[in-house]
Amino acid sequence: MKKLTTGILLASLLASIQVMAAEPDYGKAALEMMKADFKAKGPATMERMVQQDDAQSQCSASPQGLKPAQAKKLEQAQLNTVKYPADGQYMGDWKNGEKIAQNGRGMQSSDPMGAVNGGNCYACHQMSKTEISFGNIGPSLYQYGKLRGVSPEIMKYTWGKIYNAQAYNACSKMPRFGHNGVLTEAQLKDVMALLLDMESPVNK
Ligand code: HEC
Repeated sequence: MKKLTTGILLASLLASIQVMAAEPDYGKAALEMMKADFKAKGPATMERMVQQDDAQSQCSASPQGLKPAQAKKLEQAQLNTVKYPADGQYMGDWKNGEKIAQNGRGMQSSDPMGAVNGGNCYACHQMSKTEISFGNIGPSLYQYGKLRGVSPEIMKYTWGKIYNAQAYNACSKMPRFGHNGVLTEAQLKDVMALLLDMESPVNK
C-alpha cells in the first residue's frame, strides 16, 4: 500500500513538472509579436512599445504584486528620480492646468512631432463638479486641495506623485508624467495649481 501511494505521488509530481515545462512563455511571445507587427510612426516610437525599464520589468514579473521589501526599494529608487522645481515654486496657472488635464493628445502616432502633450487626468480621475465625463481607475481628486491643505509636505508629495507615480506606489498604473517627459516643469506647475489653488474648480 505504501509503495502504491509513493508511486502515485511520484507520478503526479512528474506530471506537474511536465505541465510546468510545457507552459509557453506568453510574455516573450507577445513581445515578439509586437516587435514584428507594430511600426514606429511619428512620436509613437518602438522603444516605448517594447522596452521596459527596471521598474516596469519588476512589476511585469510579479503580476500579483511585489513583496513589501521589494516594493519599498523600487519606490525609493523612483523617488530618487524626482526633480523638484528649480525655483522652489510649485504652483502655476490652474486655468492652463485644467486644459492640460482635459487634453488626451500627445506621443501618439497621429500627433505631429514636437506637439505639446496633455496629461489626460480626467481619463482616470474625477476632478471638478463641472466636468461630468471622467474615468474612475484613479480616486476622485475633487476638493483635493481643500481636503489635504497646502502644507509644504502636501506640495512635495503631490509634485512627486505626478512626476513619478511609482515613487509612492511601486506598480502604479498612473503615467510617470515628469519622469517620462510627458509634461514639462511648467505644465506640472499648472496641474499642481489645478489641484491646490483654492480658486480652481477642483476646490469649488
Ligand atoms: C491611466 C490612469 C491615470 C491617469 C491618466 C492619471 N492618473 Fe492619477 N492616479 C491613478 C491611479 C490608479 C491612482 C491611485 C493609485 C496610485 O496611487 O497609483 C492615482 C493617484 C493620483 C494621485 C494621488 C491621490 C492621493 O489620494 O494621494 C494624484 C495627486 C494624481 N493621481 C494626480 C493625477 C494628475 C494630476 C493626472 C494628470 C496629469 C493624473 N493623475 C493622471 C491613475 C491615473
